[in-house]
Amino acid sequence: MKVRRFSTAALATVYVAAQVESLITREAEPVLGLATGSTPINLYRQLVEFHRQGLSFSHVTTINLDEYVGLQADHPQSYRRFMDDNLFSQVDIPPSNTFLPNGMAPNLDRECGRYDAILDAHPIDLQILGIGRNGHIGFNEPDISLKTQTHVIDLTEDTIRANARFFSTEAEVPTRAITMGIQSILQAKAIFLMAFGRDKAWAVQRALSGEVSTEVPASFLQMHPNVTFVLDEEAAEMLDDPHAAVLGHENLGSRL
Ligand code: F6R
Repeated sequence: MKVRRFSTAALATVYVAAQVESLITREAEPVLGLATGSTPINLYRQLVEFHRQGLSFSHVTTINLDEYVGLQADHPQSYRRFMDDNLFSQVDIPPSNTFLPNGMAPNLDRECGRYDAILDAHPIDLQILGIGRNGHIGFNEPDISLKTQTHVIDLTEDTIRANARFFSTEAEVPTRAITMGIQSILQAKAIFLMAFGRDKAWAVQRALSGEVSTEVPASFLQMHPNVTFVLDEEAAEMLDDPHAAVLGHENLGSRL
């Protein structure tokens, strides 16, 4: 796996945006795998800026990793709304080319099957990932086993606590999500995992250097031939301190 360490998250973001721009200008029908959350928000700002400078998204297809179960598409914290607000409404991508799971589907199993069919029809060229501080990717949470394809997942306490910052109270955070599975993520031709800040340092260290384990879903990226971790200095901090990673992320309170 390649690691690109930048002195700031802003510089790291420009690097990833340039990779996306290169794909979009090179390919006739590029497919981007996208993430939500704090980490890629400035990537989307940068891509909107590139669009204002002439980059067209009219031929691009996007497939998002995940969506909360139980939030309407226009709920301020739904991932559909996040993508509409931060990217889709500000570039010339046809709305019918943008895919997210439907967390309001009456039959969630059928919705997972529908999403897998979309993934089969549109192989992802470049997948953007964030990483949870517990090592999750998409919403593939640490567990004794991982699902390969799109599925409904119970979010861990840690993820609910981390995501509560976007809601008025922790009780409002949905407890379930639909997420692409690990195998679908690994099928992308190229993967860029972005991680910024000290609270990601443990997960980054374990993903890159520890053994492949379902307890750290991001460690499965070691099995992919074309992954780049794009880090700021803080997220890269424990790569120089391998002993720190022996502790679980929950034991690192004072270091995070
Ligand atoms: C979001 C997603 C999650 C986030 C992760 C980090 O679509 O799939 O895996 O990437 O929870 O979130 P932030 O960037 O908010 O720290």
